[in-house]
Amino acid sequence: MKRFITALVAASIAATATAQQVNFAGNGHVLIKDKAEKQFLMLPVQEDADGANIQVIVNNAQQQSLNVKLAAGHVDYYVPLDISKFNGKTVVFDIDIWGDKKPTEKVKNYVCWKEISQSDNFDTKNKEKFRPEYHHTPVYGWMNDPNGMFYLDGVYHLYYQWNPYGSQWENMTWGHSTSTDLINWTAQPSAIVPDALGAIFSGSCVVDKNNTAGFGTNAVIAFYTSAGRNQVQSMAYSTDGGKTFTKYENNPVIIGDCPDFRDPKVFWNDDLKAWNLILAAGQEMRIYSSNNLKDWKYESSFGTGYGCHDGVWECPDLVKINDKWVLLCNINPGGIYGGSATQYFVGDFDGKRFTTNQKQTLWLDYGKDHYATVTFSNAPQNRHIALAWMSNWQYANNVPTKQFRSANSVPRDMGIFEADGIYYCTSKPSPELLKMRSSIVKNPTEICEIVVDIKKDTKITLSNTKNEYVTISYDTKTQLLKFDRRHAGDNSFSSDFAAETFVKVPSGSKQLRIFVDRCSIELFDSQGKAVMTNLVFPSESYSTIIATGCKTTIYQLKK
Ligand code: FRU
Repeated sequence: MKRFITALVAASIAATATAQQVNFAGNGHVLIKDKAEKQFLMLPVQEDADGANIQVIVNNAQQQSLNVKLAAGHVDYYVPLDISKFNGKTVVFDIDIWGDKKPTEKVKNYVCWKEISQSDNFDTKNKEKFRPEYHHTPVYGWMNDPNGMFYLDGVYHLYYQWNPYGSQWENMTWGHSTSTDLINWTAQPSAIVPDALGAIFSGSCVVDKNNTAGFGTNAVIAFYTSAGRNQVQSMAYSTDGGKTFTKYENNPVIIGDCPDFRDPKVFWNDDLKAWNLILAAGQEMRIYSSNNLKDWKYESSFGTGYGCHDGVWECPDLVKINDKWVLLCNINPGGIYGGSATQYFVGDFDGKRFTTNQKQTLWLDYGKDHYATVTFSNAPQNRHIALAWMSNWQYANNVPTKQFRSANSVPRDMGIFEADGIYYCTSKPSPELLKMRSSIVKNPTEICEIVVDIKKDTKITLSNTKNEYVTISYDTKTQLLKFDRRHAGDNSFSSDFAAETFVKVPSGSKQLRIFVDRCSIELFDSQGKAVMTNLVFPSESYSTIIATGCKTTIYQLKK
């Protein structure tokens, strides 16, 4: 019976596919010439296949170029290429297969030629047991860094590094989601797509309240890295509140002198009454200023001799919190527990130069899965709301999901505190998360918050019936907080995944808050003095808690 159904499905797909003209031109080149009639061309993907480039050509002109791992032996999933704007026209899909399977006899045997078809439907219903409930995720496809976050007229906008054509890193595009509460996110159409200057790498948005750039009052201006032959900085503006963007005709606006030159974060500096921009350039952060968002003056660089330099510096942010300035510096690799992590510096900034006497390396989060942290622009009540990508470049492309890959952290409100003469950042779960608390339950569930009141040395074990478990402990004397995920579940996809992470909580902890959401656990000191974010992939959810030295309250969470 099952076989029969499979055969039926295959037959119907093949029937659609025969309409196409698949031409094998040799040396890995394949041309499909077809009339666009439906909304999507469905592309079958096999994640371990060689990649391919597809040029979409209409009336002799290239309309789009994308990279996709076209299925050779089997199909992992399908991704939709929107061809609706070409409907009624003849489209040439000029495909260049990469790798060593180029000889025509091999390419002809690829299953994709039978599976490619036009369709008016693409099923985005969740197919994944590890898709988080209250964390932001892309509806499908790969996601890394949060980009361009801003707040305007009651709406939080979140853009993100997105691959619409596969669940691994490629084709960087700014995906877009919106929310009124930082918890419930609505997927929006892509905001900024690759062009001749390159893929659209990470960056930021500002609301131009005084029309300094001349695109209109309250125009939303996006800054991003165009990653093509070089990494250069470009801008785009939106006059519909961040829905659609027009690229600035005189891009790029900043051209650098080194290969890793990216991730511009722009902010209004009220002390200076001007704009500042900070970006990563190799092992330093460069600071610029501008009055009109188009012409940028280089001011200074920060980095040499400070913090960790065991990887590339990326995705900076510079935020004034109380009277101090915090410079966020994401680094990969070289993070405290290997791979990616966010270090920070607390200091002073006069609009031109950032200075600090902070010598030791401080991390914003002491887990393994917290990267590319940046804050929302124009946030209400002068809040400093941060989001991080909840993964690590060591294994992000291989975690056990398919329909989508990666989530963002829960929103966190950043602050500052001082202990023993050192300024630290705090990261507290944003107050919006409290609204999700519903009933108090006895046992952990796959979507819950556990509040831990520490009485003495504390140990908490969350486990399931498959003998998979996570251990969290706190030592009142050493003030050491530990999180052990070595036996949490599936570790098989990377030897870098199994890990124990720990941190000394400055001036100690009295209460912990633990957020569980299917494949992630975020552990906060409730005052935000220490945080650890770690992914977990248990084969079934943790349903038992054993806690000693503390009182635990478990809240079922509901969006
Ligand atoms: C950080 C990063 C950024 C870059 C983006 C590309 O994770 O490497 O520096 O802009 O990802 O997707």
